[in-house]
Amino acid sequence: MKLTNFALTKAARLLDPETAHRAAISFLKIAPLPAIALNHTNLVQTVCGLHFPNPIGLGAGFDKNAEVPSALIKRGFGFVEVGTITPKPQLGNAKPRLFRLAQQKALINRFGFNNDGMDVVLKRIANRPTNGVLGINIGANKDSDDRIADYVKGVHAFQQFASYFTINISSPNTPGLRALQTRDAFLGLTEAVLEARAIKTAETGKTPPVFVKIAPDLNEEELDSIAAVALKSGIDGLIVSNTTLARPIPVETLLRNEPGGFSGAPLFDRSTIILAKMRQRVGTKMILIGVGGIDSAERALQKIEAGANLVQLYTGLVYCGFELAHQICDELSKLVTLNGFENIGQITSLKTDEWAAKPIIE
Ligand code: FNR
Repeated sequence: MKLTNFALTKAARLLDPETAHRAAISFLKIAPLPAIALNHTNLVQTVCGLHFPNPIGLGAGFDKNAEVPSALIKRGFGFVEVGTITPKPQLGNAKPRLFRLAQQKALINRFGFNNDGMDVVLKRIANRPTNGVLGINIGANKDSDDRIADYVKGVHAFQQFASYFTINISSPNTPGLRALQTRDAFLGLTEAVLEARAIKTAETGKTPPVFVKIAPDLNEEELDSIAAVALKSGIDGLIVSNTTLARPIPVETLLRNEPGGFSGAPLFDRSTIILAKMRQRVGTKMILIGVGGIDSAERALQKIEAGANLVQLYTGLVYCGFELAHQICDELSKLVTLNGFENIGQITSLKTDEWAAKPIIE
């Protein structure tokens, strides 16, 4: 199985990145790999009332249209986030819009929320077998004249089926979207989303947690205001972080100047420092999901030590293949025991201050 994974990952790299991504989704659809039995009791946590068999999630963007969430959960992910889904379908930006920086184990993308739209994705999700935690990441259409209303539509459409919601206000590829991270806009957005959730709770009996996904490019004041609104609003947590507009790689690197969001190994430090800074601001109770540059158990552990309750990855999957989630879990479970802990939850935030004090290298 390991050899097959290695061969498939290598073969995919011969294709242009977007075709390889499409091929990976098609592969999971037609030849779902056998389920991997993971049983690491020291990785199990209950977070916001949801059962997470392990803390390693798949970040949004890989399965934008919810075509293969169950197959991905079978590959060992503790949870899968689909989307970003917008009310109306969108083609996204012109191709090429995904670039591999293989030496750096990084990607630059400027997809711009290409997705099938809510109606199509909703049908797909409604027909899926329910296994595991399914996060639904919602966004706004590029041409929308009321972006907050688009998020409200997302909550209305998906509440019945979402284990949790992610409100994505940090994609760099929809012009103006990140402005929703400023204090007043963020407050208005959280109020509208939580009100929509309450209305749907009365109808569906379900209250999925709401997480907001933020950028790694925020300064200290912006982090202050997001933390203050997050705590006041009653949202359940934050996902830190989306891709960066920075280029944490050498100047001479080919493709460095392609516009878009940068992800992968070189994003690890920046996103982990921002996570720790956010943990210092929101205290111990709020849930934080750490994302950015995870491709090993050591990296996952560091992210958790910096302040994450759960983590997600995307770019690591592109370079390491579908075995990555369960490989990380096997190794992480050993590390928890080796460090003298009974459960992964005990490791959260042990090194927050250390991480928060590190400088972000521009
Ligand atoms: C993403 N990411 C992303 N995030 C999101 O909230 N909605 C989206 O539609 C997408 N789309 C997307 C496409 C591609 C090609 C990539 C590489 C990434 C961001 C992703 O979920 C994650 O936050 C970042 O990529 C950082 O994690 P990694 O990739 O370094 O593990």
